[in-house]
This record gives sequence, C-alpha cells and structure tokens, in this order.
Amino acid sequence: MDPNTSGLAMRLAEAGQSHLLQFWEELSPEEQGHFTRDLQKMDFQEINGFFEKAMEASSSSKQEKMDARMEPVPREVLGSVTRDRESLKDWEEAGLRCISQSKVAVLLLAGGQGTRLGVSYPKGMYDVGLPSHKTLFQIQAERILKLQQLAEQKHKIKCCVPWYIMTSGRTMASTKDYFSRNNNFGLDKNNIIFFQQGMLPAMDYKGKVILESKGKLSMAPDGNGGLYRALGNQGITDDMQRRGIEFIHVYCVDNILVKVADPSFIGFCVKKGADCGAKVVEKTNPTEAVGVVCKVDGLYQVVEYSEITLATAEKRSADGRLAFNSGNVANHFFSFSFLRDIVQKYEPELQHHVAQKKIPYVDTKGQLVKPDKPNGIKMEKFVFDIFQFAKTFVVYEVLREDEFNPLKNADSQDAKDTPTTARHALMSLHHRWVLNAGGHFIDENGRHVPAIPSLKDGTDLPIKCEISPLVSYGGEGLEELVRGREFHPTLMIDESGVHELVKNGV
Ligand code: UTP
Repeated sequence: MDPNTSGLAMRLAEAGQSHLLQFWEELSPEEQGHFTRDLQKMDFQEINGFFEKAMEASSSSKQEKMDARMEPVPREVLGSVTRDRESLKDWEEAGLRCISQSKVAVLLLAGGQGTRLGVSYPKGMYDVGLPSHKTLFQIQAERILKLQQLAEQKHKIKCCVPWYIMTSGRTMASTKDYFSRNNNFGLDKNNIIFFQQGMLPAMDYKGKVILESKGKLSMAPDGNGGLYRALGNQGITDDMQRRGIEFIHVYCVDNILVKVADPSFIGFCVKKGADCGAKVVEKTNPTEAVGVVCKVDGLYQVVEYSEITLATAEKRSADGRLAFNSGNVANHFFSFSFLRDIVQKYEPELQHHVAQKKIPYVDTKGQLVKPDKPNGIKMEKFVFDIFQFAKTFVVYEVLREDEFNPLKNADSQDAKDTPTTARHALMSLHHRWVLNAGGHFIDENGRHVPAIPSLKDGTDLPIKCEISPLVSYGGEGLEELVRGREFHPTLMIDESGVHELVKNGV
C-alpha cells in the first residue's frame, strides 16, 4: 500500500517522523507490507507526548537532588522478620488463610530483555547450574504448588493461587511454549495466565524514532511499570475480579530466592489494612546502587542512589543503621481494589523514565551503525511508580541472604549477580535449612563441615545442597528427613527422598 495514498505519510509528517519512510523505495513489497502494518499500529502523537514529558522530567530531576524532601520509613509502618519475631507466626497464619480461600494471586514481571545476561531466550528459562538443573520458572512454579498444598493441608479446603505472567512481544511465544512443553510444571494450565506488556520505540535525543533496519523500528518493552496499562487492556483485572482475587503479590523473574506469595508478607500487609506494600532488604553500604523506599514530600516513593548526595546516603539513625536503609527489591503487595484504581484512574498520570542507551541504527546511507556511546533513549515506567497513590502503605523488611539474589549478569570475574552467585545463594540457604533442622555435613575426610565455612581453608564455597520446593517452601518439614543425620555433599532432597549424589557416584 502506498503510504502517500493511504494517509500514512501524512500522519508521519504531522508527527515529525517522516524520516521513517526514507528507505521505502528500497524495501521489497513484502517488507513494505510488514513495515506498513507496524507503523499503522503506532500512535505517534501519543509517543511524542511521552517523549516530551519524559525528557522534561529527566532534566529537572538531574538539576535537583532529593535530599531535603526525603524522610525515612517510619517505624509504625515497618514490619521486620528480625525485629518483630513474636508477630511472624500470626502474619504467616493470616497469609495462609487468605491463600486457602483462593484470595491471593501472584504476578510475575517477566517482560524484560535480559540484555546484561545476554541469552536469546527468556530469563526465566535460565538454568543457573543447580544439581537439579531446574530453571527459575520451574523453581517458582514448584513454590506455588507447595504453598497451595500447605494451605490446603492446614485449612482442609482446595485452593488455588493463580499465576499471572507478564511477558513482552519478544518473550511471549517462547515462554508459553516452554511452559506447555513442561506440562506447566504440574500446575493447572487454567490458573496460569500469560499477558503481554506494551512496547515503545527508541528515540534519538531530538525525539525522532530510531530505525533498526531500513524497514523496522527499534522497539523495546515499556518497562516493568508497563504492567498497569497491560493489566487493563488485556482484561487481566477483569479476570482477577471474576476469580475473587483480593490480594496480589508482584515479583521479578530474576530473583532465585523469591518467596512467591509469601504468606508472612501477605499476612502482615492484610493485618495492617494496607493497600500497597513493599518488601525491602536492609541497605548496609551507603554507596550500594540500590533504590531506597522512603517518603518524598510526604508520599512514598523509591529514590535511586543517583538522586541523593553522599551525605544523605551515609546518614545514620540512633541505632547505627543507615537512615535510608529500605533497599527496594521489586517485590510488592497490592490489594485488588488499589490495583484496579491504578489501572482505571491513575495509570495515565505515571510518567516514563528516560534510560540513555547505545541503540544500533541505520544511518542516512542505510548502513547499520553500532554506537559506542549512548545515542538515544528508551522510555520505561517502573512498577513502584504507583506507591504515591497508596492510602495505607507498609514496608516489610526481610533478610537479604534468605530472600533476595537477582540474576542480572553473565558469569565473569568480579561480576555481581551472576548465575554463580545465584546458585551459591540458593544452596547456602538450603544448607542452613538442613542445619536448622538438625542435620550435619561431612567432608571427604569424614570431618564435620563447620556451619560457618572459613575463607582460609578455601571452603567459602557453599556446601552443595538443594532441596526441592515440592518438599519445603521455606525450610519447614525437614526435621523428619535430616535430624541427627550426617550427609556427604552433594545432598539433594526431593519428592523421591534424600540423595547423596557424590557418595553414590552420581
Ligand atoms: P531489569 O530492569 O533488571 O531488566 O528487570 P532485565 O530485562 O531483567 O535485564 P537487562 O536490564 O535488560 O539486562 C527487572 C525485572 O523487571 C522485568 C524483568 O523481566 C525483571 O523481572 N521487566 C523489565 C519487565 O517485566 N518489563 C520490562 O520492560 C523491563
């Protein structure tokens, strides 16, 4: 279809994006057809508006540091697994009750591109090299299954925790295919609901959409805060309402330790009457590049390390902890009515953030250029942008070593948050579960392995130990399997029993 007669050329001209047709004559009829369809789907006026607002917000935030407007999270809205031990059982029971009533759903953010990890498939399909070779998706699926069982056993009613999985145009087909090839890891397929977030074009600094090839726009997902628009336009909030969902746990795909639908967190938020809650880990190093949950001008928000001065980052309270120490781990609780209000009322108020990136593009001669410094922006909304709308906001502090270890980068020397660190974090948690349940480990010389390995012996590597989520969700139920027993690593505990892989020559 000729863009001049179809009105497309005019629409692009009005939006200042005519350059997109500069190679039109060089495209084959098939390429022209694809490109036309892509361009017709886009609302360029809206995209230009996003660009202007995002650039304006980004330049004003660069000029002004947040410090004077910030206040730490007050103690009365804070629950802590270490400081409120006496309440933990109550919270867990309350959460498990809600789960048993099928009022709780989990929502997985899995629409990212995983550029830093550098694999061509969705990050949830990554195998970090555990003895079982389970992927992140499988571990999460099995935690959901186990939690359903625990709730059913305790309350003697059948329940389900629907799993909403947000993917992007790039990850949808392979994610769905992976689940179906694996028989949904034992979950009922009617309770796994895939949906797709939006994509936005990359723009240069003047607001021109970037071409990735002569007939293709450079597109990227619109950030994990693209969630809220997708929930509305894909009918997901309607689905939640039909199922009677009252509470939603939102989390990221890359955290190998994530306690999916954590009953204690849910119970804490429900008992506090919260509409919105954030799980945090204590930030202990002032210069750690993690966003902190705090109040800004009286409203809750996540403030990035780059938005504050070092003096504020280093500030300590009377107990010696950092004043701004609520490190955000993108793990949130929402009441259904809050989420519905966000989707129906507030979503358009959320602004895109600007991420400067090196974006490959075709130059005016049609040559592909891979820039070595940032040449444009991607626009993203963030999942936590909605804290400001909460009426009752709470914060739940957990231990980092028990609950947070994200997979971001490929393995390489000195890299953080890699497959190796993720694998070690999970095995070391499971090692501690065995010790807590009264089991011990023996090395190849028949000696007891110390509970706290020492660097000097080169034994700082975790004991190889993996416990299937189908056996234990959070360390419970292991006593009868391990109490008083001695194990040679590699120890695997799964539904078929307790196995020592090396001893048996496996
Ligand atoms: P990150 O910001 O770490 O991005 O996402 P990423 O895609 O995992 O990795 P890089 O930055 O490309 O290397 C944090 C979480 O938010 C999700 C990711 O899937 C991950 O669970 N996410 C991110 C989305 O769901 N959509 C997005 O547009 C971006």
